[in-house]
Amino acid sequence: MYNYRKVTDDLYWVGADDHRLALFENIHPLYHGVSYNSYVLLDEQTVLFDTADWSVGRQFIENVKAVLGGRSLDYMVINHVEPDHAASIEEILLRWPEVKIITTPKAVIILRQFGFPIETEQIAEVKEGDTWCFGTHTVTFVNAPMVHWPEAMVTFDLTNGVLFSADAFGSFRSLDGKLFADEHNFPVEWIDDARRYYTNIVGKYGPQVMALLKKAGGLDIKYICPLHGPVWRKDIGYILDKYVHWASYKPEENGVMIVYASMYGNTENAAEILASKLAERGITNTRLYDVSSTHVSYLISDLFKYSHLVLASVTYNLGIFPPMHNFLADMKALNLQNRTVAIMENGSWAIRSGALMKEKVEALKHMTILNDSVTLASSLREQNIAEVDALADAIAASIVAS
Ligand code: FEO
Repeated sequence: MYNYRKVTDDLYWVGADDHRLALFENIHPLYHGVSYNSYVLLDEQTVLFDTADWSVGRQFIENVKAVLGGRSLDYMVINHVEPDHAASIEEILLRWPEVKIITTPKAVIILRQFGFPIETEQIAEVKEGDTWCFGTHTVTFVNAPMVHWPEAMVTFDLTNGVLFSADAFGSFRSLDGKLFADEHNFPVEWIDDARRYYTNIVGKYGPQVMALLKKAGGLDIKYICPLHGPVWRKDIGYILDKYVHWASYKPEENGVMIVYASMYGNTENAAEILASKLAERGITNTRLYDVSSTHVSYLISDLFKYSHLVLASVTYNLGIFPPMHNFLADMKALNLQNRTVAIMENGSWAIRSGALMKEKVEALKHMTILNDSVTLASSLREQNIAEVDALADAIAASIVAS
């Protein structure tokens, strides 16, 4: 049975939730599902804005058919061709073979790479600033390269202020019937999923996101219709502000994330003691993570949130403990910058993890490494307490100064 919702008088959400997917992009765990959003505009011409993942293809097609109510589909605007949005294009082409496709030249190349049977005569390639009138609605196209693939664009409806924002302003998590952000308690229920989505999917491309935000600043946006997560029609400034922080790699909060790699609990013990000492100094906005049991996507997400990071790792095979090594590699891959870092190292002989972690952090941009650090030989003992106190003092002072 179809299941659609009205966004405005003549614009409809025709997407669907997927509660079954375990790993988004086969890498990021999902515990609360994800939505694939698509929209139909009923103007003098009918227009579909993007499609949906094939996992929800049947529901999506039912929704499109129901909204069209027997009308033909005249246009399909494709803002982004990643298969979680483009996989159902072929089904649209089979059912409405006369549909005209509006997209970017790069999108056409990638669509053909994926094997979609698109006829050249049904494609209208558009570039930034072009406009298209569907009757009463005129839209304009804005290039959004690397948000999140090179072909991406966003489409702005000049008539009613709707921004079809592609992956920008998207989020993990299923909608569960509540299409609009103001139908959820977004700052409580959704923000962590939104941040984890942004930082892991688009986080690498902060400068490109900032460029898009700059262009968006010149538009009178009334609605944001992303390809995942809720539609924004109120408090748009809230999500824009989050995006400015994430895209410019500015921490949202002064706080400390302690990530430890521990084989037998001794490095974990040291991390816990540091957290206690921070609390004694009034620093309570802290999070403690075991790098071995926390998916790296959560660590990356919190890294974009907090100002300070403590890396505590045992030495393993004369190197960094592998899950910590992986975390540091992901930090680099996602372009994380502008954080203050403290280091704790451990090892029973040839202790090397501290120097190696420092090297990795130094390879990132605009990072501050505190001079104080902690070195443990197998476990934290009485003689190490002064070092831990000094590190807690240094972190506290740095937080107060930031
Ligand atoms: Fe949700 Fe880049 O696709």
